[in-house]
Amino acid sequence: MTAPLLGGAGFIGLHLARRLAGDGHEVCVVDDFSRGRNDRAGRVVHIGDDTAETGIGDLAKLVLRVTGGGLEPVPGAPGSVDRRCPDLTLLRALTGYRPAVELEEGVRRTVEWYRRWAAL
Ligand SMILES: NC(=O)c1ccc[n+]([C@@H]2O[C@H](COP(=O)([O-])OP(=O)(O)OC[C@H]3O[C@@H](n4cnc5c(N)ncnc54)[C@H](O)[C@@H]3O)[C@@H](O)[C@H]2O)c1
Repeated sequence: MTAPLLGGAGFIGLHLARRLAGDGHEVCVVDDFSRGRNDRAGRVVHIGDDTAETGIGDLAKLVLRVTGGGLEPVPGAPGSVDRRCPDLTLLRALTGYRPAVELEEGVRRTVEWYRRWAAL
């Protein structure tokens, strides 16, 4: 069985991953490496969409449009990453993955998901 593990490059995740692997499970770690260490992970596979790079300001405007403007943009925190661009070469080779959801549609689905679950 493959065990998906969110935050698996962190302290707890690493130990959990080792335990699961020791019990014979295949472990698939999902981590944005905001805090985790990528030397703890096995083979790193980027996930994302490399077909349409979007500026963070344009993304913020899109989110504001989709949410109806209920949010207020604030400046990025000091030390924020200027640019993120996934390299999908390995993901494509392993799975044949192709981004299938347009950015705006993905934002709409995400906002709907939060609205549905935040209401609980
Ligand atoms: N370590 C402890 O003793 C302890 C005790 C009680 C509770 N906790 C809680 O358990 C959780 C994990 O603790 P930890 O010590 O392993 O922390 P950690 O910081 O070592 O690991 C967290 C991992 O999650 C990743 N991550 C964060 N945001 C992410 C996102 N949006 N998408 C994907 N990956 C993301 C980080 O990159 C990091 O690898 C934390 O919420 C912590 O507060 C920890």
